[in-house]
Amino acid sequence: MTEITERPLISIVVGSVRPVRIGDQIAEAIAPIIAEASGARVQIIDLAELNLPMLDEPLMPAMGNYTHAHTKAWSEIIAGSDSVVFLTPQYNGGYPAALKNAIDYLYAEWKAQPALIVSYGGHGGGQAAAQLQQVLDFIGLNTAAGSVEITIPRDGYGTDWRLVDAEPIVAVAADALRAASATLTENALVH
Ligand SMILES: Cc1cc2nc3c(=O)[nH]c(=O)nc-3n(C[C@H](O)[C@H](O)[C@H](O)COP(=O)(O)O)c2cc1C
Repeated sequence: MTEITERPLISIVVGSVRPVRIGDQIAEAIAPIIAEASGARVQIIDLAELNLPMLDEPLMPAMGNYTHAHTKAWSEIIAGSDSVVFLTPQYNGGYPAALKNAIDYLYAEWKAQPALIVSYGGHGGGQAAAQLQQVLDFIGLNTAAGSVEITIPRDGYGTDWRLVDAEPIVAVAADALRAASATLTENALVH
């Protein structure tokens, strides 16, 4: 009998939830690169759509006893992922509060979860990535895939503050993204 093994599933978590943002555009542009380099299935999880309130679970997430439907839905997404790409902008030298809030909602789901950080900003968002990596390491994710920085040039924005074209901006970091994505799949937790 032939064993059928499903391809691993990578979730790209969009960490920016602003009404006018570029995070969704960057996610769409990195998704095919990550999919091709990793051989995995890729889904985009948009925290703006998930719309988690500020952490409102009565018990500590480490107790794994969730009461709200929104927490259970978020838990299922991460528990069902074989690895996670955290896509984060840099805000004031750190990563967005919405992303920290989403991370804090869960606990066991993060343990040993292979993670890749993709940061972006005027200078690549390296400080946001460093802060995020510290938190992910503290919780116990597998951060061996490291991080990739995407620099957003000022003239990349249109008058609506959306990117005119995300693809050439992401293309500059494509080699680093491919290498990191391959590491991510090697470490993936196939469920
Ligand atoms: C609150 C806030 C703080 C920011 N701080 C930084 C920063 O520290 N470094 C940087 O390079 N860009 C900074 N920026 C510019 C962002 O990189 C840029 O607005 C980017 O489009 C944000 O991602 P988003 O549009 O997906 O939210 C900041 C933007 C905002 C909204």
